[in-house]
Amino acid sequence: DVHDGEAMFDALIEADGRIEPRDWMPDGYRRTLIRQISQHAHSEIIGMQPEGAWITRAPSLARKAILLAKVQDEAGHGLYLYSAAQTLGITRDEMTQQLVDGKARYSSIFNYPAPTWADMGAIGWLVDGAAICNQVPLCRASYGPYGRAMVRICKEESFHQRQGFEILLTLMQGTEAQREMAQDAVDRWYWPSLMMFGPPDDDSPNSAQSMAWNIKRFSNDELRQRFVSMLVPQAAVLGVTLPDPELRFDDETGRYETGEIDWTEFHEVLAGRGPLNTTRRRHRRDAHEEGAWVREAAAAYALKKQRRTAG
Ligand code: ACO
Repeated sequence: DVHDGEAMFDALIEADGRIEPRDWMPDGYRRTLIRQISQHAHSEIIGMQPEGAWITRAPSLARKAILLAKVQDEAGHGLYLYSAAQTLGITRDEMTQQLVDGKARYSSIFNYPAPTWADMGAIGWLVDGAAICNQVPLCRASYGPYGRAMVRICKEESFHQRQGFEILLTLMQGTEAQREMAQDAVDRWYWPSLMMFGPPDDDSPNSAQSMAWNIKRFSNDELRQRFVSMLVPQAAVLGVTLPDPELRFDDETGRYETGEIDWTEFHEVLAGRGPLNTTRRRHRRDAHEEGAWVREAAAAYALKKQRRTAG
């Protein structure tokens, strides 16, 4: 009965409890979760591209092994998240189709190029750093399968952030050219990493409802603020400069004041007009099409096994 279900749902949310796949849930809650979890999964999958392209060019065997592990982790995150979304009634095929057709969103950050080895450092430090700030609170998301997937993902993200920090630290202790390369990568990734948290609170259509449903626990601006306060002392240890001349700590409010984020750039990237949107999507589509034979073979094998057991 819908009324009982609704009352149960409301009571669970009120008590900060967990909603599980077989529980009754409002359509809007289901839609919001499918939207957010599938976008998150797509981000992990597309996010393999900038770093995947550096595996063959890593500067040492150790660096290569670390990078390989990290990119594999991202594939794993994408798969857990697709599975979490599937518990809500969408299929993996539907999600994949939306992505390769350019109908699905994924994080704006992965539409920027990674031209130097220092980008591997900046991606780990800034992009995975932003990912952790945003995702630790999601471990407490009200939808069980999403929250549980986030626990392991966050542990792995912490390793990713540290390896990025360590790449930058090594470069900053190197030659003048290496220090310049590290600073240049930080200059290029800093602002886009702030945009990962989404639009400002007064321009974020989904926040209020997602917070009422205990999916989001903090607002976009609140998490962005936490991220900046985490970066400032780490930048000092690294010896890099964050490329925002207006950045300062306000003693009165106890918060960091920052320069204006270029929201026009953010909206351009979301509209598909970022530096590499087309390249990223085309690459994913080609990989999907070229992998068709693997899916067909796996399905044929599963069918054969099933027939044998049945016969
Ligand atoms: N890149 C692309 N799209 C974005 C971004 C971004 N950085 N920020 C916001 N958007 C989109 C939202 O998806 C939403 O689009 P839609 O309504 O068409 O679906 C729209 O902009 C409006 O934003 P909000 O109302 O603020 O949306 P929401 O409440 O979903 O908040 C956020 C956005 C914070 C990204 C949230 O979805 C979230 O926490 N997602 C899970 C984390 C995640 O996906 N991380 C991916 C990058 S981390 C990684 O993969 C390593």
